[in-house]
Order: sequence, then C-alpha cells, then structure tokens
Amino acid sequence: NKGARRPKDVPAANLRRVGVIGAGFMGAGVAYVTAQAGLEVVLVDQSVEAAEKGKAYAHTLITGQINKGRAKTADRDALLGRIQATADYGALADCDLVIEAVFEDPQVKAEVIQKVEAVIRPDAIFASNTSTLPITGLARTSQRPAQFVGIHFFSPVEKMMLVEIIKGEATGDAALAAALDYVRLIKKTPIVVNDARGFFANRCVGAYILEGHKMLAEGVPPAMIESAGRQAGMPVGPLSLNDEVALDLVLKIAKATEAQVGQGAVDPAQKAILSEMVEKQGRLGRKNRKGFYDYPEGAPKRLW
Ligand code: NAI
Repeated sequence: NKGARRPKDVPAANLRRVGVIGAGFMGAGVAYVTAQAGLEVVLVDQSVEAAEKGKAYAHTLITGQINKGRAKTADRDALLGRIQATADYGALADCDLVIEAVFEDPQVKAEVIQKVEAVIRPDAIFASNTSTLPITGLARTSQRPAQFVGIHFFSPVEKMMLVEIIKGEATGDAALAAALDYVRLIKKTPIVVNDARGFFANRCVGAYILEGHKMLAEGVPPAMIESAGRQAGMPVGPLSLNDEVALDLVLKIAKATEAQVGQGAVDPAQKAILSEMVEKQGRLGRKNRKGFYDYPEGAPKRLW
C-alpha cells in the first residue's frame, strides 16, 4: 500500500489545538486521549451540558488512573484545564485539526462540515471519525477536500491502540501526514487504509463474526465456537465478540449493506440468526446482558 508511508516532503505537523465535534461516546474518548497527550482540546456539542458531559468522561477516566496510582491529582487538574467544553463553533477558530464524531448521518455530518469550515483557518485539517460513510463522499460536501481525511478510532478509545487513517480520493499529502503525526502524538498505532466499505479492521472483524454465525447455523454448539476461537489465538470467540459489538448494530450494518449492494450481499444464515436474536428475542448483546451468551449481574466486566 503506497499510502501506508507518510509523505516524506511534508514537514511535521505543528499540532497544538484540536477540535472535537460531538461529545458522545467516541468524541469524549478522543478528547481524553488528545488532552492526555498534552494538546489543547475544544470539545463541541449541541449544548454546553452535552459538551460538559463529554468532559466529565475525561474526569472519570483520569480519576481511575489516580486510583490505580498511575496519575496525580495535579495531572487531573492539568488535563481538565486543557479541555474546553462548549456549544460555540467559533471556539474552533484557532484549531490545527478538527475531528468530528457526531451522529452517523450524512446530512448531520454535512452541516457540521460547513459550520466548522466557516470558522477554521484555511490550513487546518478536518477529519471524520465515521465508521461507515465513505470519506470520498463526505469530502464532496467540503470546500477543501484536499484537507479532508478519515481518522477512525475504535471503542473504547482510551484502550484501543489501532487507528485507521482513511485517504479519500481528494485527500492531500498534508492532511495524510497531519493525521499520521496526530495519531503518533497520542501514542496510538496508525494504519493508512483505502476508502472501502468497512475500511480494514471492520472487514476483518465482520468476517470473523460471520464465520461464528455460520458455524452456529451448521449446528456447532456456542461453547465450542468460543473455545475454538480462543484456541486459535483470538482474545475471544466470534460470538462473544458480536455480543461485545452489539447484535443490533451488526444487524443494522447487514441491512444497510443489502440496501446499498443488493439482495444476496448478506449471508442468509447470518440474517436469519440476527433477526431471530434481535427482533424476536430482544437479545442485543452485552449491553442488555443477553446475547449469544448471558451476562448476569456480577459477571466479570471484561471478557479479555
Ligand atoms: P454518540 O451518539 O454517542 O455521540 C454523538 C454526539 O454528537 C452526541 O453527543 C450528539 O449530541 C453530538 N452531535 C450531533 N449533532 C451535532 C452537531 N450538529 N454539533 C455538535 N454535536 C453534535 O455517537 P458515537 O457512538 O460517539 O459515534 C459518533 C461517530 O463515531 C459516528 O460517526 C460513528 O459512526 C463513529 N464511530 C463510532 C464507534 C462506536 O463504537 N460507537 C466506533 C468508531 C466510530
């Protein structure tokens, strides 16, 4: 992959101030890891309350670190001092990089892109954390598509080391280099991937989960599927991974894939299993304690 290497003739990006739009599950995590790296963060949501809620997540995480003896109270004060929670897009004016993590809706993202581009410096980079929308398409709603790039985190952001950098058709070298520099600055591992459905990691995860569904349809007991996955060296089996990711999310992705690609794009066994589990039995995965496996109150919080 030619794009995997950082463009050589682009000087190191001078990143001091990063905007994060959307202080939800992902945005709050991105704000935390960015502030942890010593960068200033402007965390924007639709209301100050929502932005503050995202900032509170950083408070919770750093307090956890203090309780484990890995950080001091002064670190918490400094970290929180670097995160400005606001509903004012104008606060993004001096950002070097802005990362959006708003709802996965092209219309909402297009509006956000417009609002951000109206206030940021012409040389600033805009990144989307979209998990499914092609970067090339999103960049068409941008006035500066060369400065538009995908930076795709995995959840939970504070734990997952891999970050995908997606190069859209129009993404320029400066944006690609800045994205790589940023990910290295926050001490995560960047990989540059093509703008394909599922990018890279979710294609692998999707294939693994699909094999679990197929084995189940073939009559292999769930306990054996879990055990085989683990014995093959994976941290968890494919069905418990699906429980972790959420069954309704995978069903939603399957339906969207079929709507976009056409009938036959989704394995019929997978569709049948997921609709039985989600729509008939209301089993959504670990989030409601019932997926392919049960997660009773008091069960260990993490599988690995
Ligand atoms: P979420 O629903 O937890 O958070 C979205 C936030 O965006 C909310 O706080 C909402 O108030 C805010 N928002 C919506 N419109 C806004 C606007 N116009 N201006 C400012 N803020 C606005 O969603 P989540 O899960 O954090 O996902 C965000 C993005 O990250 C999506 O594009 C999603 O596909 C992507 N993503 C999600 C992952 C996950 O595991 N949840 C993993 C990787 C990417």
